[in-house]
Formats: sequence, structure tokens, C-alpha cells
Amino acid sequence: MKSRIGVGLIGFGTVGTGVAKVLLDHAALIERRVGVPVELVRIADLDISKDRGIKLPAGLLTTDAGAVIHDPAVDVVVELIGGCDVAKRIVLDAIAAGKHVVTANKALLALHGEEIYEAATRQGVAIGFEASVGGGIPIIRSLTEGLAGDAIYSLYGIINGTSNYILSRMTQEGHEFNAVLQEAQQAGYAEADPTFDVEGIDSAHKLAILVNLAFGTPVNVKEIYTEGITRITPTDIAYANAFGLVIKLLGIAKLVDGAIEARVHPTMLPATSPIAQVDGVYNAIQVVGEAVGDIVLYGRGAGSMPTGQAVVADIIAIGRDILAGAQRRVPAASFRQDQRRPLRLKPMEEISSLYYLRFMVVDRPGVLAQIAGELGRFGISISSVLQQGRRAGQTVPVVIKTHQARERDVRNALAEINRKPFVSDPATLIRVEGKDE
Ligand code: NDP
Ligand code: HSE
Repeated sequence: MKSRIGVGLIGFGTVGTGVAKVLLDHAALIERRVGVPVELVRIADLDISKDRGIKLPAGLLTTDAGAVIHDPAVDVVVELIGGCDVAKRIVLDAIAAGKHVVTANKALLALHGEEIYEAATRQGVAIGFEASVGGGIPIIRSLTEGLAGDAIYSLYGIINGTSNYILSRMTQEGHEFNAVLQEAQQAGYAEADPTFDVEGIDSAHKLAILVNLAFGTPVNVKEIYTEGITRITPTDIAYANAFGLVIKLLGIAKLVDGAIEARVHPTMLPATSPIAQVDGVYNAIQVVGEAVGDIVLYGRGAGSMPTGQAVVADIIAIGRDILAGAQRRVPAASFRQDQRRPLRLKPMEEISSLYYLRFMVVDRPGVLAQIAGELGRFGISISSVLQQGRRAGQTVPVVIKTHQARERDVRNALAEINRKPFVSDPATLIRVEGKDE
């Protein structure tokens, strides 16, 4: 029996330091849970002179990722450098060297997950990625183990802490987008390139991982409809509030008639719904299963310690399997690799939703009737209209909420309306979740 589980860390930044702290601070607790000590054996980073605020035993640090991978004392290689090219090489090299791998790198898994899962399956090593979605929330293990008996119908939620932090501060305190983004970066929540957070790309990466696990189908992340929060204005936040709604960036996935709907976009939700009340860096993911009904998982979606804890949970799971002599107990992508079935990803035009539409139009008689006429021509039914104030002859916002409508019809109607001479700016479209009333 092994007398310890050796951990090699590659990338000693925000998450890497969280992992080291959790392993060192909870060493006794972890040993009681695993049965042997789980020890940090090597750490690689490009900069090993920087003070990370952690007292490490001498000789742990190196600038050479290869030295970590090939150290015979390392059982589990933890990749925490981010990005795709070098990270992919590190992960595949570690797998080829027979090492178990843990990563928090959702971009890598969304783009190259298939190759990595197959390589790990072939080599008989584990690949853990609990930290890749939802920071400290155990959503991956919930899908692969906790809900393994259920048929999943849908999942949706807030899966990017940075954008939720920004939207929450804009909504509650009227802060400017850029100032809040800087705060999220300073707190260590944002990706190296924060456009990944605010343009919805990080959420799409995470949604691709969740779809894969929930529905047993590979999904091409480039085909997931992705829209971020950069075009959300204080005006739309205020109108949402007037309708009793809150704007959140959601990842949404549904299995409908044997096809998958997967999309990321700002969404208006009733202010009373559980997900609407999730603020700041917190994430929440609602899963709906045939047998279980609804469950919601909630917690910090980013940050050094919550994410570090999730990485350590994977290391512990692997350590326990090593000690029990178990191999690939849980398939890398939840379903057995040979039992995954490609499902059709529905194009966005095929989805149906409720819509919030804001038109910037000249305030004069007959304009509203023309907008309503075009919507009616495309079979779109209006549920409410809001025009505040009277500014005859000047541009005013006219806001319309629709009943359930098809995306294709809404887009076609907006294209017609945007061509009208009384329109000053293209219409704003935000999808609405909730009851059609
Ligand atoms: P950081 O940028 O804080 O840390 C990455 C570290 O890796 C840096 O110190 C970097 O050095 C170092 N590094 C880069 N290339 C190499 C290399 N070739 N060899 C050794 N070290 C290298 O990123 P995070 O810790 O925030 O993120 C790490 C991963 O975790 C990413 O995949 C991210 O998406 C994911 N993640 C992050 C979360 C968070 O809250 N921050 C939450 C969940 C997942 P240098 O700075 O000099 O480039
Ligand atoms: N940048 C990501 C976020 C980190 O803000 O959610 C957690 O995956």
C-alpha cells in the first residue's frame, strides 16, 4: 500500500496558491479522510521568486513543468496555468507518463476535451475537473455521481462569477461596467483575458462541459450561441426592474425531442426566482431530472480558495481510488466513452422564448401601431408595452414584452422594424425566462 499521495502543481497563480493553502492548512483533515498524507511534492511556475504568501518546504519550486510531470514521487499532476496550447501539451504529457491529472481549465476541456478524455481512458488514468465549472460548487460530481441514476431534462444557471459580479454591482449600485470589471480582476475572479468572462465565452466553455456530462454527447463549443453582457445598459436594467425582472448572464441547456438546446446570453428573470437572487461572485446552477425534479446548487463560482478546494476534492477522489486499487471508476465524461451518442444541437433560430424588445423611435402618432403591426405580421403576440414620458418629435424608448415566440420570427420582425425611418438605433433584444402571462 502506498504511504502517501504525491501532488505536482503546474501554475502557482490564483488557483494554484489556493490549492497549496488548502493542502497545507487541511493536511491532517485530508489524511484522516484519505488514509495517507496527500503531499505537495513539486510546484512549477514561470516565476518562482515571487512571494505567494505561503511558506513552502525548501526545494519544491521549479520553472520546469516537465520536472513535475516526470518526478516519480508525483502521482497526480495538477494543471493550473490556463490557456490551451501549453496546457494541452502538459495534460497529454502527464497522461502519457501514466499520471492522473486534475485541471480547472474549462477552455482546454471545452475545446480539446474529447482528445483528453480518450487519452486518459486509453492510459487508464483519471482526469478530474471539478473546479472547471462553478468554482467551489460540486456540480461536476453531482452530475457524474450524485445524479447518475437520473435522466436529465435541462440545466441552467449563472456559471460566470465575473459577469455576475459586474451585473450585480451595476444593478444594485448603478456602477460603471469598466470600474467593476477592474474590481473583479483584482479579486482574481476574471480570466487572463477578461473578454472571455464578459462576452460569455467562459460560460459557453462551462456549458459545453456540463452538456457533455448531463446528456452524454460531445458538443462543439463554437456552435453554442454565445452573447455576453457588454451591451447591457443601465436603461435596460431600469426597465427590467420596472417589469419586476432582473438581468443575469445564463447558460441554458435543454434536451428537447432528442435534440440539444445550448445557449449563453443575458436573460431577464422574475426578481423572485432563486437564480435572480444570486449576486456577486456567486454562481447557481439549476438541474432538472426526471426522477429528482429540480435541484439548485449555489456557491462561490470563482476565487482562489473556493476553486482551490474543488481541485483538492479531485485530488482526494483520485487518492482514494489509488489506495483502493480502483481504475477509471467514474468514466471521464460520466457516460462510458463508447456509450456517448452525438445529439443534434438546435440552431438558435429554432428556439422559442419570451422576449424583451426596446426600440429607440421618434415620438409621434402611429409609430407604436407600426411596430405592433410588424410583430403581428410575424405571429408575435405582445404581452405588455411601456413608454415613459412624452418627448414629441424626439427619440424615446418604447419597450415591448412578448408572449412565447420563435427566435426566427422575432429576428425577422426586428430586421423589418429596424429599417423604418422612425427608428434611430437597432432594437435591443433580451430573452426572458419565466411564466408566459
Ligand atoms: P493565474 O494567471 O493566476 O495563474 C496561472 C499561473 O501559471 C501564473 O502564475 C503563470 O505565470 C503560470 N504559468 C503560465 N504558463 C506556465 C508554464 N508554462 N509553466 C509554469 N507556470 C506557468 O490563473 P488562475 O489561477 O486564475 O487560473 C488558472 C486556471 O484555473 C485557468 O484555466 C482558469 O480558467 C481556471 N480557473 C480559474 C478560476 C479563478 O477564480 N481564478 C476559477 C476556476 C477556474 P505568469 O503569471 O508568469 O504567466
Ligand atoms: N473567470 C471565471 C469566472 C473563473 O469569473 O467565473 C471561474 O471559472
